[in-house]
Amino acid sequence: MFICRRMRSKLGVWRLYVLLVVYVACSGNSAAAGIKSTLQCNVDPNSRFDCAPEKDLSKEQCLARKCCHSPGEKGPGMGQPSCFYPPTYPTYKMSNLTQTETGYYATLTRSVPTFMPRDIMTLHLNVMFETPTRLRFTIKDPANKRYEVPIPTPEVNGQASSTQYDVQFNEDPFGLIVKRKSNGQVLLNTTVAPLLFADQFLQISTSLPSNYLYGLGEHLTSLNLDLKWTRLTFWNRDLIPRKDANLYGTHPFYLSMENDGSAHGVFLLNSNAMDVLLQEAPALTWRTIGGIFDFYVFLGPEPKTVIRQYHEVIGFPFMPPFWGLGFHLSRWGYNSTNMTREAVNNLTEAEFPLDVLWNDIDYLDGYRDFTFDPERFGDLPEMVDECHEKGLKYVLIVEPAISSSDPPGTYLPFEDGLKRQVFITNETGHPLEGKVWPGPNVYPDFTNQETTQWWYEHLKVFHEKVAFDGMWLDMNEPTNLLNGSMYGCPKNDLENPPYVPAVVGGTLQSKTICLSSKQNMSTHYNLHNLYGLTETVASHHALVKIRKKRPFIISRSTYAGHGHYAGHWTGDVESTWEQLYHTIPAIILSNMYGIPMVGADLCGFVGDVTEELCLRWSQLGAFYPFMRNHNTIESKSQEPYVFSEQTQQAMKSALLTRYSLLPYLYTLFVNAHNIGDTVNRALFMEFPSDQNTWTIDRQFLWGEALLITPVLEEGKTEVNGYFPAGTWYSAGSNVTIQSDGQWILLPAPLGVINIHFRGGCILPTQTPGMSAEETRKSDLILVVALDTNGFARGDVYWDDGESLDTFQKGDYTQVVFLATHGVLLSEVIRVNSQADSVKLGMVQVYGVADPPSKVLVNGKPYEQYSYDQDTKILTISQLCLPLGKPCTIIWS
Ligand SMILES: *[C@@H]1O[C@H](CO)[C@@H](O)[C@H](O)[C@H]1NC(C)=O
Ligand SMILES: *[C@@H]1O[C@H](CO)[C@@H](O)[C@H](O)[C@H]1NC(C)=O
Ligand SMILES: *[C@@H]1O[C@H](CO)[C@@H](O)[C@H](O)[C@H]1NC(C)=O
Ligand SMILES: *[C@@H]1O[C@H](CO)[C@@H](O)[C@H](O)[C@H]1NC(C)=O
Ligand SMILES: *[C@@H]1O[C@H](CO)[C@@H](O)[C@H](O)[C@H]1NC(C)=O
Ligand SMILES: *[C@@H]1O[C@H](CO)[C@@H](O)[C@H](O)[C@H]1NC(C)=O
Ligand SMILES: *[C@@H]1O[C@H](CO)[C@@H](O)[C@H](O)[C@H]1NC(C)=O
Ligand SMILES: *[C@@H]1O[C@H](CO)[C@@H](O)[C@H](O)[C@H]1NC(C)=O
Ligand SMILES: *[C@@H]1O[C@H](CO)[C@@H](O)[C@H](O)[C@H]1NC(C)=O
Repeated sequence: MFICRRMRSKLGVWRLYVLLVVYVACSGNSAAAGIKSTLQCNVDPNSRFDCAPEKDLSKEQCLARKCCHSPGEKGPGMGQPSCFYPPTYPTYKMSNLTQTETGYYATLTRSVPTFMPRDIMTLHLNVMFETPTRLRFTIKDPANKRYEVPIPTPEVNGQASSTQYDVQFNEDPFGLIVKRKSNGQVLLNTTVAPLLFADQFLQISTSLPSNYLYGLGEHLTSLNLDLKWTRLTFWNRDLIPRKDANLYGTHPFYLSMENDGSAHGVFLLNSNAMDVLLQEAPALTWRTIGGIFDFYVFLGPEPKTVIRQYHEVIGFPFMPPFWGLGFHLSRWGYNSTNMTREAVNNLTEAEFPLDVLWNDIDYLDGYRDFTFDPERFGDLPEMVDECHEKGLKYVLIVEPAISSSDPPGTYLPFEDGLKRQVFITNETGHPLEGKVWPGPNVYPDFTNQETTQWWYEHLKVFHEKVAFDGMWLDMNEPTNLLNGSMYGCPKNDLENPPYVPAVVGGTLQSKTICLSSKQNMSTHYNLHNLYGLTETVASHHALVKIRKKRPFIISRSTYAGHGHYAGHWTGDVESTWEQLYHTIPAIILSNMYGIPMVGADLCGFVGDVTEELCLRWSQLGAFYPFMRNHNTIESKSQEPYVFSEQTQQAMKSALLTRYSLLPYLYTLFVNAHNIGDTVNRALFMEFPSDQNTWTIDRQFLWGEALLITPVLEEGKTEVNGYFPAGTWYSAGSNVTIQSDGQWILLPAPLGVINIHFRGGCILPTQTPGMSAEETRKSDLILVVALDTNGFARGDVYWDDGESLDTFQKGDYTQVVFLATHGVLLSEVIRVNSQADSVKLGMVQVYGVADPPSKVLVNGKPYEQYSYDQDTKILTISQLCLPLGKPCTIIWS
């Protein structure tokens, strides 16, 4: 079976290759016939690189640029460019290639300036063989220090002795070629288009080995990107998610699948406003308006290892507290403490589990940070204490914008901040004033150490009154309801760069602050995309100091490395079926970016939700790592308790399924935290050799063991799901799928979300309680899903669920389970005092072909078992085995 599939795919590649050769030859001829004057212009239409990025050019203007022109095509950026570079277009020439301690060093020189102002005519290329699977290269201006992204990355001295990559150079025109050593596959070839490096316009292109490309968020896209002339713009912005728009975050990272099922990744460490262009050649162009080129290439070769290698550079995800994995209840429009209490009571009376209660901006006094409304929220401190008594946690929204127009002596955070100069300043050195909720307001500059301290101090004082457990960071793109500031923006090169990426609003100031405003580390022009990250880092450190427990923070704006400190929600999504689907790729991709603590607002944020959509959304949302029902102020209520009894039962069933899986989910988070695994995972990450999986984004996995196949369409009671080759058990029922890698139509009545255990895996589960804490106290139930050879493995991590650094300090229990030929063994890898707090109570073995005649537990005959002939599930119950002690269970 396996061999057949491999041969088929090899044949496919070969056929593609022949087609390409023929195609290039044909189009070459016709292009040559069409363009009389310059033979160099016979470029395959899909391999044309745009020579008019900044504006439309007439034929004359294009030719004056010494570029090729072919009329009748679409304008710049989208579609085949009509003005494009000839292969002979002057660019940099490489000289003085020198071996260094870390790799290579070379000089790049250009003799002819480009059409962009302030070309940097001499550049330095530094190639670093950092690890066997990680290559880094930078291109910088040797004469002037330019802005570089201030996030910590690994420091490497020396070079890897053997590498999985080969690097080659093209001297004139300059190009860098990266190949996979094992098979010669070209991963990167920057010779395909000229390198440009002007003060405010940097561009580099590369070929891609296939049409399967993933990442480059945050955008509303399918999982695999469309290479048919697509432009992705990076400029963090407050916007209801929609297609072809720059959204809240910036993650200049992609993963590319190679035709043989290997994968590699590329990360551009640059935070300036940027466009990435994709074309069918296949090729990709990075176009940024500042900073330097600082590239990392990850060789994988599996998709999962590419992700790990990326996370090693940007930082592994933070470890959330156990309670963060429970259900979160929120809405904008809980207008008072009493109304907030009522929501909790209503939910509790309807017997839904709940862990975390949230308040939106309703609680604030005049929308000022670190305050609460004395009338409607006068007893907020008491309400939060009540929450804690009930075992609930409390999270509140915190805005970055600080009110700046209160009467003197009435709002200390502003006055103190002014004195300590913690705010972003405008051209004349005054704090830049914009407008968000509170009216005129200023923006803390979180790149300033003093700001971090100021933020901590005011949070601490506030926390002494309101003992919140987590923070919700919104509007931190940062949002401004004005463009630029209350006084507009000055006219200069930063405000009006020669090239403006295709941002929503047409200008970079749109709905944010002036680009030339000043922050401690650099200008906002350079730091804009880092605003959310820097606020998050400051909040993370503040919460650690204040609570001395694991912080729980969710932020709307993100940049690469964010997941090391906090989570993310997908913003102001609309209550539509279309958006419901899009949350799956969004969440898988966020996991790829190292932000596994991610979710979309259940039932959507904007607009009224229908009962059916809210039910389907709650079923899917039960498998978001971060599960919160949240709603906007104008919309109809959508808490679970407002729906019919039947819908409530179905929602409850999904929620309880989630709670039963919390030990598994927590274990996945530990693996994300320790080794850079993903929690919500695309099918292609587990089954990269099965090309059918490469585009699947209406299903996903939790880790490697659980496949989720939600209904994403209105009125449907069936769903088509893809099952990669192997055994799949539908949870709790007698349906076993033996798949050769095929699509299967599954029944999916309204009350059901299809989930399947993967044969070969063992999952720790528990009896769901009304909270994560209650669930944690119940005995563990092992789900053993045997493969066709009677084999399965899995593990569980257990600790106190909230202390800082338990995994760094080794204060946890880890147990590995192995099932083979009628024997289940546990191996205790590490044990701490927490191991006593949980027992192994039950084992359910799926796929036991024949009824066993006896069961032995730790060598002794055991009677408490049952076998179901229909389901082929062997259940061994009432075990009560301490988790920290090794055990053996035998059935025969
Ligand atoms: C290359 O190295 C030679 C000898 O060290 C030096 O004279 C020359 O200026 C260098 N060229 C460039 C472009 O750096
Ligand atoms: C890299 O691209 C250039 C320009 O398209 C091409 O001539 C060259 O053959 C490519 N190199 C490799 C190794 O594919
Ligand atoms: C809260 O108050 C606002 C404004 O007074 C109102 O529009 C909204 O409907 C209220 N929220 C709810 C959930 O009733
Ligand atoms: C709680 O339930 C009551 C009774 O159904 C309802 O009147 C009230 O609006 C609900 N409160 C909230 C906050 O949903
Ligand atoms: C909240 O409810 C309590 C009890 O019904 C009542 O005494 C109190 O005045 C209410 N608070 C507000 C702010 O409405
Ligand atoms: C800077 O801010 C101050 C005070 O808000 C204002 O008076 C001044 O006009 C602003 N300068 C610019 C260039 O916007
Ligand atoms: C901000 O600029 C956009 C265009 O970019 C314009 O449509 C909008 O009206 C401007 N907003 C304000 C408040 O000036
Ligand atoms: C940055 O902040 C530090 C300390 O807060 C201060 O000493 C330094 O002058 C600031 N630099 C700039 C460029 O604002
Ligand atoms: C599964 O169980 C149901 C009853 O629970 C039974 O009707 C059905 O025949 C069983 N199917 C198989 C394949 O065993």
